[in-house]
Amino acid sequence: MKVIIAKDYDDMSEKAFGIMLETVKSNPNAVLGLATGSTPIGLYRNMVRDHRENGTSYKNIRTVNLDEYAGLEGTHPQSYACFMRKNLFDQLDIQEKNTNIENGAAKDADAECARYNALLEEMPRDIQILGIGSNGHIAFNEPGTPFGSTTHTVRLAESTIKDNSRLFDSIDEVPRAAFTMGLKNIMQSKKIVILANGANKANAVYGLVKGEVTERVPASVLQLHPDCVLICDEAAASRL
Ligand code: F6R
Repeated sequence: MKVIIAKDYDDMSEKAFGIMLETVKSNPNAVLGLATGSTPIGLYRNMVRDHRENGTSYKNIRTVNLDEYAGLEGTHPQSYACFMRKNLFDQLDIQEKNTNIENGAAKDADAECARYNALLEEMPRDIQILGIGSNGHIAFNEPGTPFGSTTHTVRLAESTIKDNSRLFDSIDEVPRAAFTMGLKNIMQSKKIVILANGANKANAVYGLVKGEVTERVPASVLQLHPDCVLICDEAAASRL
């Protein structure tokens, strides 16, 4: 794994944007695997600014998102579908039909997972953007998830519910379950860029880069990927 230590959050976002721009410019039909959460917001801001200032086009770009809360409609303000529209899609020239995310409101969870897995097979990712949870999760693959997992539903770990409660009015409103791409789906991306900032990610980053490759730390599977780049700030890199 290549490790790039950035000065701070802005520098991390700028460096991630450089790799994203290269992907989009070299292939205007690229498939981007995208993440939500606080970490990639700076990257998305750079993409929007560049689109406005330099006209980089996303007209034929297709996207697939990692995960979505179960039980939330895509119109719910805390849904990841809504997050993506607000932070990225609505500000680019991307076509809505080319953006994909699990349907959180699906009544038949197994059928929804099968639909998403079939879609992922048809849309090999050129690049996958990832954040990392403080417990080492990637997407919503919590510790103990098999490396061979594909899209599935998951009960969220207490630590994840607590981490994510900052975005809800109260911790009781955080959904307890989610749909997530599995670790096998994530590993199929041609290139992976994982971002981490802040001291609360330092242990997870250590496990990602230097720890044992173990299902107890889902992100450690990325040590086995042939083209994975970690871009993190100094605080997140403090244990490396
Ligand atoms: C989001 C996702 C999660 C986050 C992780 C870090 O789509 O898959 O794994 O990347 O929980 O979240 P933040 O960036 O909010 O610290």
